[in-house]
Amino acid sequence: MGYLTLKNVDFAYGKSDFIIKNTSLQLFQEDFTAVVGPNGSGKTTLGKLMAGLLKPQNGTVMIDGTDSNSMSLGAIGKRVGYLFQNPEKQIFAPTVYEELTFPLEIKGTEKKVVERKAKEAMEVFQISHLSKAFPFTLSQGEKQRLALAAIFIHEPKFLILDEPTTGLDKERKVVLSGILKNFQHEGVGMVVISHDEAFVEEHATRVIKMMGGKIIEDTRKSFRS
Ligand SMILES: Nc1ncnc2c1ncn2[C@@H]1O[C@H](COP(=O)(O)OP(=O)(O)O)[C@@H](O)[C@H]1O
Ligand SMILES: [Mg+2]
Repeated sequence: MGYLTLKNVDFAYGKSDFIIKNTSLQLFQEDFTAVVGPNGSGKTTLGKLMAGLLKPQNGTVMIDGTDSNSMSLGAIGKRVGYLFQNPEKQIFAPTVYEELTFPLEIKGTEKKVVERKAKEAMEVFQISHLSKAFPFTLSQGEKQRLALAAIFIHEPKFLILDEPTTGLDKERKVVLSGILKNFQHEGVGMVVISHDEAFVEEHATRVIKMMGGKIIEDTRKSFRS
């Protein structure tokens, strides 16, 4: 069974028609899965369902073998990290450093461990020099690396990234590619929602194409090495 499994999932926002229609899907940690398709085809909605952020009206979403309906946000967060299309949405703290340490502190993690993990995350994501900066003054690429660092600190087994290359210049994309490859080397599963054909071509082992709330193509290119 896949690490993330959707079975006959229907989803609607409020009383609208179903946006995701009778969708079944298995996602594996061994893959780098790209989700492509036109605007409004349901990619973001599907991503949020996979991450347990939205709950389906019909069908089930299983995360690591458990129905996401019966899991706490903490239990989900340890397994699946989700990078929003606009990373500003997930930044809250007054400094970069606190953005990383606060969630660990409220979990009651030992101070020394908190400091070590935050330092490591800042190094991996190349934001150590911004430790004391106010997150909202960061560039798009820096905000994204901060959001990724904040996800990384929970050591998730699976990452879902919504349009991660939007607003990044060529050099920043290379930095992001390197970061994602590091996650892969550590065995972290990856789903990337993306319009960026070159980025998909470079990374994906499997490409899922959405149209009108349904999967219309699911192509395995290769197994990752
Ligand atoms: N919060 C929301 N409330 C109501 N409708 C929404 C909401 N978010 C997205 N939609 C609708 O759901 C459909 C799919 O949107 P989305 O999942 O964002 O697609 P994509 O990411 O492929 O552009 C669109 O018709 C969009 O208008
Ligand atoms: Mg979207």
